[in-house]
Amino acid sequence: MCGIVGYIGKQQAVPILLDGLKKLEYRGYDSAGIAVLEESEIKLCKSLGRLAVLEEKLGQDFSAATCGVGHTRWATHGRPSDVNAHPHCDCTGKFAIVHNGIIENYIELKEWLAERGHHILSETDTEVLPHLLEHFYAGDLEEAVRLVTEKLRGAFAMAVLSYNHPQKLVAVRKDSPLIIGLGDEEYFIASDIPAILKYTRKTYILDDGEIAVLQEDGVRLMDFQGKPVHKEIYEVKWDAQAAEKGGYEHFMLKEIFEQPRALRDTLLSRLENDLVVLQEIDLTAEEIIHYQRVVIVACGTAYHAGLIGKTLIERWVRIPVEVDIASEFRYRSPLIDAQTLVIVISQSGETADTLAALREAKRHGARVIAVTNVVGSSIARDADDVLYTWAGLEIAVASTKAYITQLAAMVLLALFLAEAKGSLPEERIKEIVTALRQLPGQAQEVLDQAGLVRQLATVFQPAEDAFFIGRGLDWSVALEGALKLKEISYIHAEAYAAGELKHGTIALITKDTPVIALVTQHDVYEKTKSNIEEVKARDGWVIGMTYVGDQRLEKVADQVFYLPKTLSELAPILAVIPLQLLAYYVSIARGCDADKPRNLAKSVTVE
Ligand code: M6R
Repeated sequence: MCGIVGYIGKQQAVPILLDGLKKLEYRGYDSAGIAVLEESEIKLCKSLGRLAVLEEKLGQDFSAATCGVGHTRWATHGRPSDVNAHPHCDCTGKFAIVHNGIIENYIELKEWLAERGHHILSETDTEVLPHLLEHFYAGDLEEAVRLVTEKLRGAFAMAVLSYNHPQKLVAVRKDSPLIIGLGDEEYFIASDIPAILKYTRKTYILDDGEIAVLQEDGVRLMDFQGKPVHKEIYEVKWDAQAAEKGGYEHFMLKEIFEQPRALRDTLLSRLENDLVVLQEIDLTAEEIIHYQRVVIVACGTAYHAGLIGKTLIERWVRIPVEVDIASEFRYRSPLIDAQTLVIVISQSGETADTLAALREAKRHGARVIAVTNVVGSSIARDADDVLYTWAGLEIAVASTKAYITQLAAMVLLALFLAEAKGSLPEERIKEIVTALRQLPGQAQEVLDQAGLVRQLATVFQPAEDAFFIGRGLDWSVALEGALKLKEISYIHAEAYAAGELKHGTIALITKDTPVIALVTQHDVYEKTKSNIEEVKARDGWVIGMTYVGDQRLEKVADQVFYLPKTLSELAPILAVIPLQLLAYYVSIARGCDADKPRNLAKSVTVE
């Protein structure tokens, strides 16, 4: 969490830092700050609230500065406030640091520093960093930074500005993402590519344990032992426009409407004739047969995609699959070995819990396939094989197009494994592949009904609670629908296996409780319909969701939303779209900020 930027060059630093922070606000937005070098002095401006507050506070200040660092915060240690906002300085005001991550041993470091006369002003873990730097500095900035890293436990990406070295910035990475942008006699530091894309496409993606020294004449890289590091330049292929709203009011809406394209890009190049071909997975059929179990690990929305992956793999490949929440997985001594195939799913490829789970799985000898949206991310680099979801840059905190492509990836992986194991007849694979090719167009048909969803949203606007019910794959989609609604509209929403509602939760159903019932799974259609009747008998207000041409729900539900006809196994990919739209329109109707919901950040790089 948190976004870091740094700039050194010949242009005015402040507009570049603010512009970069704007692109990183998705990583946290409870407070922000910048530090620049101007007139041989470190000057600081920080403030509680969104970046706009900082911008206003800054006005035209610091306009002569051509070097500085900036930060947008998602609080972990210390509540959002001016004093806890970054950058943080040492006692002498000669070092300013911005940091992303958690310094796990900060309490003992605070005590150690206090014993040596340092005054720590904030409640943050970060503030120990500039004080440690002050302690170790003896004329050589890189050496002092190196010595500081030796004292730290935890995750840190940081950018350092020093009064003693006006033409130098130092960047450090361990377990939190950081990139360096290489311009023409100007250099950048950022937590993520969009922050620098306006200025350059040439980057170094720092690895854990690396330090970058940015000066007017270039960038030097070294490891934590001070040994030089040589690294290929990574040239970013996508353009700056991807990071703009393109006429939509919010990134979330733009990203929802990009889903047909995202599905096309993720699916079509992997379908050859009547088969799925995944060239990026370096496993032979013999190797696949030897796996006895699959374990899927992810967080949040990606975890919900994993639940669908489980059903598909178990149904089509006939091997047991477990799905685990990444933050739990590593601490329960998971039973995995070389016979276990582990699939980790992560949009950002940087989620700390998922990355830690991946490493734990590899430590046990498992093969790890990553499903991720970000090329070159930590998860992509650490996995054995990577299946990219070509959703494109996702900026809204609420994941939409990344989720839908994760579902597509689950279908592809399940079919790929089934082909290798020979567990599905050829005709069945052909039928699924044919249905897959139709999905992008069908997703567009669902989006064409956005107006209807907007109307339905008015029912949810005043609600305090909402329920999503379904059986089988519908239940997994219901979980995602409930998360979306909670996340951006702050309505308490719960997803229930439709048959489970009567075992307690139905007590909460009243006439003011909207219920969305997903009814796309043919084998349990009648059962779910009965569950809708149970809700109606308690005066609940129900929106049913089924396929076009099926009139049966109209007799039991208050409203029915129709999806284009597809296979039951592929229905989640279409069924989630109205749920995403619903969450969006309810959020707008309630006056919430759909792109930047309270308390959240997109990329959770702390455990
Ligand atoms: O980048 P990841 O896919 O690893 O992120 C996992 C979750 O943090 C993420 O899906 C989160 O739940 C979203 N905000 C949901 O919309």
